Amino acid sequence: LPRSSRQYSSVSNLPPTYEKLHTKYTEVRRVLGAQRLTLAEKILYSHLDNVEEGLLTNTNNGRDIRGKANLKLKPDRVNMQDASAQMALLQFMSCNLPQTAIPASIHCDHLIVGSKGAEDDLKAGIETNHEVFDFLESAAKKYGLDFWAPGAGIIHQTVLENYAVPGLMQLGTDSHSPHAGGLSTITIGVGGADAVEALVGAPWELKAPKILGVRLTGKLSGWASPKDVILHLAGLLTVRGGTGYIVEYSGPGVETLSATGMATICNMGAEIGATTSIFPFTDASSRYLIATNREQANKNAALLQSFPGAGASEDAYFKFKADEGAEYDQLIEIDLCKLEPHLNGPATPDLSTPLSQFKATVKEQQWPEKLSAGLIGSCTNSSYEDMTRVESLVKAAEEAGLKPKADFYITPGSEQIRATLERDGTLETFTNAGGILLSNACGPCIGQWKRQDNVEKGTLNAILTSYNRNFRGRNDGNPDTLNFLASPELVTAMSYAGSTTFNPLTDSLTTPDGKEFRFPEPNGLEGPKTPFDGGRDVFKVASQPPSPDVEVAISPSSERLALLEPFDAFPESDLSGLRVLVKITGKCTTDTISAAGPWLKYKGHLGNISANTLQTATNAETGEVNAAYDLDGSKHTIPELAKLWKEKNQPWLVVAEHNYGEGSAREHAALQPRYLGARIIVCKSFARIHETNLKKQGVVPLTFANESDYDKIAAGDEVATIGLYEMLQNGGQGEVKLRVTKKDSGEEVIIPVTHQVTKDQAGFILAGSALNLLSKGAQA
Ligand code: F3S
Repeated sequence: LPRSSRQYSSVSNLPPTYEKLHTKYTEVRRVLGAQRLTLAEKILYSHLDNVEEGLLTNTNNGRDIRGKANLKLKPDRVNMQDASAQMALLQFMSCNLPQTAIPASIHCDHLIVGSKGAEDDLKAGIETNHEVFDFLESAAKKYGLDFWAPGAGIIHQTVLENYAVPGLMQLGTDSHSPHAGGLSTITIGVGGADAVEALVGAPWELKAPKILGVRLTGKLSGWASPKDVILHLAGLLTVRGGTGYIVEYSGPGVETLSATGMATICNMGAEIGATTSIFPFTDASSRYLIATNREQANKNAALLQSFPGAGASEDAYFKFKADEGAEYDQLIEIDLCKLEPHLNGPATPDLSTPLSQFKATVKEQQWPEKLSAGLIGSCTNSSYEDMTRVESLVKAAEEAGLKPKADFYITPGSEQIRATLERDGTLETFTNAGGILLSNACGPCIGQWKRQDNVEKGTLNAILTSYNRNFRGRNDGNPDTLNFLASPELVTAMSYAGSTTFNPLTDSLTTPDGKEFRFPEPNGLEGPKTPFDGGRDVFKVASQPPSPDVEVAISPSSERLALLEPFDAFPESDLSGLRVLVKITGKCTTDTISAAGPWLKYKGHLGNISANTLQTATNAETGEVNAAYDLDGSKHTIPELAKLWKEKNQPWLVVAEHNYGEGSAREHAALQPRYLGARIIVCKSFARIHETNLKKQGVVPLTFANESDYDKIAAGDEVATIGLYEMLQNGGQGEVKLRVTKKDSGEEVIIPVTHQVTKDQAGFILAGSALNLLSKGAQA
């Protein structure tokens, strides 16, 4: 708004979320004065339950908040996908409240298997999972939540299209929730227990993140795409480089990106372990809001930025960008003009190879040269821009008479994007070329993939995906499928070649009539020429008031859903008599601890899903996968031995290496060990979300003070804690050690360990779980 018109408006013209944001931001400025702030800090601090307490406790008068303050935040909304929503809702139900404290939505996307094509797969998915979908829909009705039925789309795309509004703070029960950072929100991936905290209206706690700045200059051209920004960054920072940070993008290059391109980059911030990622609000963000039929949200964003808070300086205005002179804890510069397309993998998203070196690397590493399948779309890369850029390639290849040599799958991220692409002819181009259109759901991205080429488990083969994650076995359950992550454009061109060594910038294909064909540079549209088509309404149950009389559908004989029993409280003493169930070596991701794929069907049944616990972990002492030894030497699978020990009331711990729990917000990776009797996990380092999830479920995460002590403890050793109970009673203050009695010699070793337990988390652990504490509070 021009300054002259400001006097005619008032803050109360803003929607309630913005009115609150404005009020809180004014308080932030009152407390922090002219301190330069990044955009992430502005939004985050403006969501503090108590601004003054949050910014001044544990800090040097508000001067060193990052990494020090424990922020107690009040998010604006919660978004849940169907696999994690089950446990979140079961936990919410145990609090016996009539409705949620903030708006929330449920998205049925994880349970549909991608196989023959959208229509058949969706039908089969609904049939197989109707029990879970009925449960979720009935809970949505009872508590007044938005329900997006199977077929409506993948959570992150649906959230970006419908709920992401600049300045909002959201929690999502999925690790790629930061996708919505592409529209200047702070959206953080959490486990169900965190979601329940927000749903019951309790503040949600987060150690104030540091800020990793990424300054973009220049402009992408040719084959380079937004995906390559994050693939390159993952290579620079590794899977742990973003831990404890929010990644905030700035610089003139930001203005050259589409909103959906920015979302793709934020999505994969999860691959570097970042708390979340965020972009400033640009003209492209504005265009996206309008194209997705949210003109009013766009106007509100402009209005919010026009109201001064306290004082007359420019700082009084909330702007969706960092203050001039804001400092970053680390700053990385990327010149988009020089950025090459990248391919990341296999097995880890940070093994990044520029396209120009990929052919040589494939040969050197003896990775398969034959490309078995190319998969594009998913939550990460199914924007209009992505798909129309791919369309330009497919059309050129079709005109030359070529067909993809590898199986070629397309997953639209939402019904809205699917319907719009259908309307504009893009999908027909893909299917005419032989592409298999999968339903608007996660499918192969989360292991729900029945491959058409029937590649047997154990067969080494290569696939290319425009997805975000490529841990072994993630897509088809076959650890010998090597998944390389790339832009949809690159996946498509290489699918036509059927080869992992094909470089569309330098190589050509031979057409059926013997001519040489070179792909043109991809060329697409940022968004549709007319606003998006919402698609079939049948998929949505919009906002609804709570209906307390609705009965939530859970059959007592169900194999897929079971009500939760509360966990035992912490004993009123230190822990003793624990045994090391297994000592793990190498990567131990949340996929390792609780596999997805076929196990997704048991997400709502803790007892049944626990049979997959740590089943792909590698035993450090024997090198075997999924092997553990009882005290009498008998061999079992890891979950079998855990179950046996649960039955014998033998509490246990796991010993592991770095970044334990890397990968996702999957709370089952914390719930299952807890259910089976784990009391502590000791490792060299933890992934942030998982470490928090463990504490919420009453499992104590401890880190070796000296990494080399990992060598001093072995499977079967007896462990007692020293100082743990006192530390918990003192609200997280105090030193902890482990007394390890060696299984074979009886020798005693003392191992010092560190912890990150806050006062609130100490309360959760003592109560047995966060839920035990919350349900008491919520009912009081
Ligand atoms: Fe779905 Fe997560 Fe993939 S939301 S599309 S499984 S990254």
